[in-house]
Amino acid sequence: MSNYHVKTLEEYFHVYRKSVRNPELFWEEIAEEHFVWRKKWDTVLSYDFEKPEFKWFEGAQLNITENCIDRHLHIRGDKTAILFEPNSPDEEAEHISYKELHKRVCKFANVLKDQGIKKGDRVCIYLPMIPELAISVLACARIGAVHSVVFAGFSSTALATRINDCEAKMVVTSDGSYRGAKTIDLKSIVDEALENCSSVKTVLVAKRIHSDIQLKEGRDKWLEPLLEEAYQDCVPEIMDAEDPLFILYTSGSTGSPKGMLHTTGGYMVYTAYTFKNVFNYKENDVYWCTADIGWITGHSYIVYGPLANGATTVMFEGVPSYPDFGRFWEVVEKHKITQFYTAPTAIRALAKEKLEFVDAYDLSSLKVLGTVGEPINEEAWHWYNDNVGKKKNPIVDTWWQTETGGMMISPLPYITPTKPTYAALPLPGIQLALMDENGKEVKGNQVDGRLCVKFPWPSIARTIWGNHQRYKETYFSAFNNMYFTGDGALRDEVGYYRITGRVDDVIIVSGHNLGTAPIEDAINEHPAVAESAIVGFPHEVKGNALYGYVILKETGETRNQDNVRKEINQIITEHIGPIAKLDKIQFTEGLPKTRSGKIMRRILRKIAHDELNNLGDVSTLLNPEVVQSIIDNRL
Ligand code: PRX
Repeated sequence: MSNYHVKTLEEYFHVYRKSVRNPELFWEEIAEEHFVWRKKWDTVLSYDFEKPEFKWFEGAQLNITENCIDRHLHIRGDKTAILFEPNSPDEEAEHISYKELHKRVCKFANVLKDQGIKKGDRVCIYLPMIPELAISVLACARIGAVHSVVFAGFSSTALATRINDCEAKMVVTSDGSYRGAKTIDLKSIVDEALENCSSVKTVLVAKRIHSDIQLKEGRDKWLEPLLEEAYQDCVPEIMDAEDPLFILYTSGSTGSPKGMLHTTGGYMVYTAYTFKNVFNYKENDVYWCTADIGWITGHSYIVYGPLANGATTVMFEGVPSYPDFGRFWEVVEKHKITQFYTAPTAIRALAKEKLEFVDAYDLSSLKVLGTVGEPINEEAWHWYNDNVGKKKNPIVDTWWQTETGGMMISPLPYITPTKPTYAALPLPGIQLALMDENGKEVKGNQVDGRLCVKFPWPSIARTIWGNHQRYKETYFSAFNNMYFTGDGALRDEVGYYRITGRVDDVIIVSGHNLGTAPIEDAINEHPAVAESAIVGFPHEVKGNALYGYVILKETGETRNQDNVRKEINQIITEHIGPIAKLDKIQFTEGLPKTRSGKIMRRILRKIAHDELNNLGDVSTLLNPEVVQSIIDNRL
């Protein structure tokens, strides 16, 4: 698989400049190496930031699973493709070879076909981190069905919203999941969701926890007997490079989630290329990304990127704290992990525990450490570097988004000197800009601004499913002729980037993107709530936690405030999931508003951060008097 053949920082700059001078040529050379194209492209790129429209490798035909599986069969058929490490350390790990993966994906693909799924149909996958999750994703791609994986920690309401938005014909789920010492009844969540989803005709149920669940006649089917019967070969559907591959939902600043649509050819090239280079991947490495496939990190860097490189990719079903806080390191030792990719929130949680949990294991197999999902603070970076990497492994702090499909800013191991809390330099092919509030580019170093990308890259999401206008407004309207990320960033004296956080109404809690609007909508469903506003505040482990300001209705009756707090969090859990629960809920008489009625979250954020000195001019507010009362009653 293509890499830049870069060995020094000087060479990086050379390749980077080349990628800017002639992006089409740069990407064409990468796409030409190793991939199986059934037909070559007519044009590398055509684009229009106005529409906005991006087409990569138009005219080309391929099937991504042929690149991720079949291509490897004759050279590494017996090599482990997926290494499944179960929740319980007492259960044996499963090594699924490329040959075995081929068979299981083909069988699954044939089951999908037998159940009436065709190219272009949407299949919702709601599974725990078991091999069937990766296999069902690949099976969809095999036949050209569009997968939409919903993280199995989401509630039934959140699941139903996503199923309805993409009009999925089928749901793939399991009889339950293990999570540390607990089991979760996923099937009931699906049943509840489907009460409100008319598009779903079939539910396939994988057996995992062997619980006693009900199958709905005519709709639900056990997966295993169908797989047993299915034929073990399935000719891959030939896809156009721009045919949809998957939809993955991410939070936005309005109530409904955004279904980011990724297409086939560009996504494959980009995830394969970044995986290889950012992890400095070598043939016999054993690579582990601890994310869930329900998020983009799992799509790009557990499934597609690693498999396109013929790598061994670990899928971990469990949690870092079970059976104790040494679990990650036990797994690293057991499978001799070479690249380890995790989230800052996990590092912070583990750093709070005794060092013996790390020191008890041999971590000498590790070569590269990675982080993703939110800014990593200096303390966590050093803990990771000192105790896990033993100061010998480079840390790649990779900045990217569901929308970007793959990593955009990251050090290259052993090439880019790392600097704690900095994602460092854009990868070759990625042209960044920092913009000021007046829409002007901020040039030079030691500056900050809003982070934008001013030239297309192959894995940019092509639209928001069913709402191209929202796609245009969210990403392409803030600044002309560029993609706006929603993040703020600074560029230091040598040109390194540091992400400073979101500049919109999205809050990142434990690495999960949460929009304020859907949470506020949920809170407002409580019968006693008149209005609410959510902001983030710093939290030791989660990075950010949620602070809710809530106005109660005047009903004359007095309610126990702690009960209302519990009920509010219960509603949030039902509507979105436990990840969106509020850490603090302050009841207030009013919320600061502009004269046009917009809630001034900026002021609430400052109060929640305890930054009371520079609240700014509050006199222009509609109701300046509420600010003092909110300050006086802050939690
Ligand atoms: O704010 C940035 C933050 O996560 C956002 C994207 O979230 P999501 O689409 O869920 O994708 C997460 C996994 C790719 C970004 O807009 N973010 C992601 N990586 C970093 C980061 N912030 C700082 N440093 C990072 N390395």
